[in-house]
Amino acid sequence: MLGFVLERRGRRYVGVDLNPDMIREARRTAEQLRSRCAFVLSDLTRVALPGRFDTLTLIGPMCHLTAFDVARFLRKVRRNVHRGTTLIVDYEDGIRRMAEGKRKTRGKEVQKVRGRFLSIARRGVDTEAGLFPYSVHFRGSGQPLHAAEAIWSPFVLEALMAAEDWELVRRVPPGRHLGFRDIYRFVGPRDS
Ligand SMILES: C[S@@+](CC[C@H](N)C(=O)[O-])C[C@H]1O[C@@H](n2cnc3c(N)ncnc32)[C@H](O)[C@@H]1O
Repeated sequence: MLGFVLERRGRRYVGVDLNPDMIREARRTAEQLRSRCAFVLSDLTRVALPGRFDTLTLIGPMCHLTAFDVARFLRKVRRNVHRGTTLIVDYEDGIRRMAEGKRKTRGKEVQKVRGRFLSIARRGVDTEAGLFPYSVHFRGSGQPLHAAEAIWSPFVLEALMAAEDWELVRRVPPGRHLGFRDIYRFVGPRDS
């Protein structure tokens, strides 16, 4: 979606996702719109893209990416950025939410999603991996699905970014949206 909006302003866009359904839908929409946006099926922490980019975004995937993943991504993209490249990222402050009791780490809850009942069992905190593990069980189906949400907090991200020469330019705290939005600028050596 973001790519199609930016394209109208004369920008070129490459989207990366490891979910084949997302890439298939994005490519189908691109065809319908006669868009030149490119979509790559890959893990963004391992993909090797050609060229240098003025702006990178991590809008949406941070709950799937641990601190280790983001550290790998930042090392990998050094070859694709230049001094002044912007990185926009949104994430929830899981540590604050847990401390304030808004992020439960134990207990079960039942939700109805698209007409199906599912129960979510929270399974504590894994502070070595940086994850909130949980299991999802769809009513009427056998095995539960084990999943996890990555834990973020401003100080964790900012420290990782600084280690790879990204300077915080602006931080928009949670307001109407649940998470932080940070804008970083690459200040590192040009050909690192
Ligand atoms: C909230 S969705 C955002 C989807 C899409 N980018 C958009 O703007 O509509 C988060 C996406 O991150 C993708 N994702 C999670 N981990 C990823 C990774 N390591 N590499 C690439 N994509 C990843 C998921 O497959 C999912 O589609």
